[in-house]
Amino acid sequence: MKIAVLMGGQSGEHEVSLISGNSIAQALKEEGYETVVVTISLDGIWRLEDGREVTILPKPSKGLWLIEECKEIPIDVVFPVLHGPKGEDGTIQGLLELAALPYVGSGVLGSAAGMDKAVMKALFRDANLPVPKTILVVWADIKLIEQEIGYPCFVKPANLGSSVGINKARNRKELEFALTEAFKFDTRVVVEEAINEPREIECSVLGLEPKASLPGEIVPDAEFYTYESKYQSQASKLIIPAALSDSDTKKIQEYSIRAFRAVGAEGLSRVDFLIDRKTGKIYVNEINTMPGFTQISMYPKLWEASGLSYGKLVSQLVKLALQRNKRRLDLKICR
Ligand SMILES: Nc1ncnc2c1ncn2[C@@H]1O[C@H](COP(=O)(O)OP(=O)(O)O)[C@@H](O)[C@H]1O
Ligand SMILES: [Mg+2]
Repeated sequence: MKIAVLMGGQSGEHEVSLISGNSIAQALKEEGYETVVVTISLDGIWRLEDGREVTILPKPSKGLWLIEECKEIPIDVVFPVLHGPKGEDGTIQGLLELAALPYVGSGVLGSAAGMDKAVMKALFRDANLPVPKTILVVWADIKLIEQEIGYPCFVKPANLGSSVGINKARNRKELEFALTEAFKFDTRVVVEEAINEPREIECSVLGLEPKASLPGEIVPDAEFYTYESKYQSQASKLIIPAALSDSDTKKIQEYSIRAFRAVGAEGLSRVDFLIDRKTGKIYVNEINTMPGFTQISMYPKLWEASGLSYGKLVSQLVKLALQRNKRRLDLKICR
């Protein structure tokens, strides 16, 4: 079987995606799959390792299309290891649907709903999941924010990841700054109540009938889990499994599966939680439909702790992509 691994992409998480993508490609080879590595540059050009340019056409296809040779490379499954906008938000997934190629992970709806923090939180609330109080603003409506949320609060671009453009605001001056920053990155901005000195717990979900892993804990080396503490410093720690009571572990696993279903995710996701250190209350913070996937990332590490190796995990994801595709092919198009 031949798997196209898409990596890089036009987002702030380009570099992380390259690391995840290369280790997935390596593991697939070790599991006996043939791989075709496709790197998407920051300006959106798709290339094979030998530099030839390829694309996917928006019509039912057998694989990748070599642009200069006007020739198709047959592919059985596409593994889009892309994070953030134009990778994890349903856009690539839409192209793969039009090409009728089986692919790993969530479809258009699950990807888009999981990416937009306002839509995601609305779906979580609708599924009766505990979420911090959140509002969506499309302009710097200070009065509304102070009335509805107050201080301290977190201000986030709705459609980004890796903590880019996110700031905590303790007063009006900081709120004005945080809004200016967030609106540089998106036209939609969410503002939410800050959970006091939260514990950050993460849980991996896998399957079409989803299963949850043991939860893990992140201990950031900064006031919150910023871009720098995620990728530039070595000081943030992963604790696997997280030290939680049995009942909190069960609750987190149950919430993770409910969150996965709420946004319509498929295949895999990592669900992130904040626990108020004082009250012990658990909040669902977000879902990531294409979580970090390097050898040391939380998503595969949690499965390893639950008894599923990195290699077995990636081959399981390929099998799920084929199953998902079959389910879709079995659906009627017209009556
Ligand atoms: N409501 C909140 N209360 C306390 N800390 C928060 C809150 N929201 C976000 N954070 C902090 O900011 C980090 C990034 O926010 P998050 O919503 O996870 O965005 P991203 O999608 O960029 O990871 C979190 O890991 C956490 O450290
Ligand atoms: Mg996060």
